[in-house]
Amino acid sequence: MMNSLTSSCFASRKLPLPPHNGTNPINLTRFPATGTVAPSSLTRTSRHLKISSVRIEEKPSHTEGTTVDKSTSSPTSVRSPSSSSYSARKGAVSPSPVKPKSATLPGSITSTEPPFPVTVFNALDDIINNFIDPPLRPSVNPRYVLSDNFAPVADELPPTECEVVQGFLPPSLDGAYIRNGPNPQFLPRGPYHLFDGDGMLHAIRISRGRASLCSRYVKTHKYSAERDAGYSLLPLIFSGFHGLTASAARGALSAARILMGQFNPMNGIGLANTSLSLFGGQLYALGESDLPYVVRLSSDGDIETLGRHDFGGKLFMSMTAHPKTDPNTGETFAFRYGPVPPFLTYFWFDKAGNKQPDVPIFSMLRPSFVHDFAITKKYAVFADIQIGMSPMKLIMGGGSPVGADSTKVSRLGVIPRYDTNETEMRWFEVPGLNIIHAINAWDEEGGDAIVMVAPNILSVEHTLERMDLIHACVEMVRIDLRTGMVTRHPLSVRNLDFAVMNGAYVGKKNRYVYAGVGDPMPRISGVVKLDLSLSDRRSECTVGCRMYGKTCYGGEPFFVPRHMDNPEADEDDGYVVSYVHDERAGESKFLVMDAKSPSLDIVAAVKLPRRVPYGFHGLFVREADLIKL
Ligand SMILES: [Fe+2]
Repeated sequence: MMNSLTSSCFASRKLPLPPHNGTNPINLTRFPATGTVAPSSLTRTSRHLKISSVRIEEKPSHTEGTTVDKSTSSPTSVRSPSSSSYSARKGAVSPSPVKPKSATLPGSITSTEPPFPVTVFNALDDIINNFIDPPLRPSVNPRYVLSDNFAPVADELPPTECEVVQGFLPPSLDGAYIRNGPNPQFLPRGPYHLFDGDGMLHAIRISRGRASLCSRYVKTHKYSAERDAGYSLLPLIFSGFHGLTASAARGALSAARILMGQFNPMNGIGLANTSLSLFGGQLYALGESDLPYVVRLSSDGDIETLGRHDFGGKLFMSMTAHPKTDPNTGETFAFRYGPVPPFLTYFWFDKAGNKQPDVPIFSMLRPSFVHDFAITKKYAVFADIQIGMSPMKLIMGGGSPVGADSTKVSRLGVIPRYDTNETEMRWFEVPGLNIIHAINAWDEEGGDAIVMVAPNILSVEHTLERMDLIHACVEMVRIDLRTGMVTRHPLSVRNLDFAVMNGAYVGKKNRYVYAGVGDPMPRISGVVKLDLSLSDRRSECTVGCRMYGKTCYGGEPFFVPRHMDNPEADEDDGYVVSYVHDERAGESKFLVMDAKSPSLDIVAAVKLPRRVPYGFHGLFVREADLIKL
């Protein structure tokens, strides 16, 4: 097997952290490694550090309804949002986005110059970003947040043939790996957090040993409105509300833009930048601050956004980016959370994707950051962690309303997964357990016990502000429903997150987990394979490992079974795939690794036609499912 991309499994590389005095400029000329950005403008930017006025690129003027000439490779031939066509074909979509008002206000004359109110709004925006709330903290300073391969690519990429540079793509790998992640369409005008970028999908379509890559924005309402306006219209959720004065100023400015018709929040404010999910015959791009967006891949590998989906008017406001689909029943379980009661709402979809009624969880007493959850065959399990929302903190302390509360005791909530109300929901206090992602859970002892596997953030106070200081310890948590006792033990000493497993085992006992190695977070320097059966010995569960090598970083791995429909296949008979980027060479690859191999041997490496920025979550959709979309 080929190992040219690996380094020692136990090699550990600590990147020099950027200084946190807010004065060291990153090399903005390194942002897009595509050669499509005018170098001169970026050089000027790095010299003057006036981030608020810089665009990544100047896209050509866009006409709604424009179709893509796929015979060309022009990365700027962007397809317009096609929600209306989706509505016509499917008949079950949320209100189609209004045509963005752009800079043309009601009653005004179309002009290349923005109307006076817009000029005033933008001037106020600059005042807020430069004087009231400049990006001083490293966690929201674009020079740090968007350094190296966290920088956005400058444009979209139509389907482009890739070169297999190592090994062979196995015939059973037939479909597309699609990964979501933030890619702000404009360089930030002020504070910017890693979670705040517009969602971009990077899809590598594989068929008969060949591959093509396509990168497209999710055409959210926010993306489309801001693209047409030519600048950002709304404050960013994670970075735009720090301190009372800045929050009030940005809130007032947003209200003014809405009143002037520049943006209609009823059509959604989300970024759809977090993950994807396939259920009910639809593929969705997800972000937890909005409804799902339906996307599809065309036969040539191109990505289309079909529209924002409200499930026939039954889904309100938002949905988690981490729904769980039971592979045996086809049902999908989900939730939403928010700052006003009920702080948590649980719901599920039948096999056909029909949403069932909401189950409001009023026993969630405070707003909590519920990013993920787990299901078993009998239950849904939620984590009420120490990260929450406190408006009083913003008012009294002048900081962010979202943060960790060290006085809060974490809890796990268990509700029968088909319950229609919360009367049988039980909460278990678990001090020190701060789960942001869940890997899996299952029932034991006839349903009298639940086992959950998840990374526990040991330094939760750093989750939003200093991700490089996060240590996530994958733990096995056992809830005895008879006694109420919760026991926990770690499965590895490593700093692990972005963990996945064989999707056929969602909700039932599984053995193998594949997790990204934080070095430091959010950089992922390798992938390890954990064998949960070793947990009984209370020993390190790592049984496989591949480090990507010096200056090489990946992201969340994904497990693709070798035989999709063979229930007799071994749980680990398949491939672990991931995008990996070499920061020194500026090149990205798509790796296919043998999941059974202790060294996760490389089966194939595909050189990508251009850089794929680091991102969040993805999935593999097999060809048989792609053609149904
Ligand atoms: Fe996530």
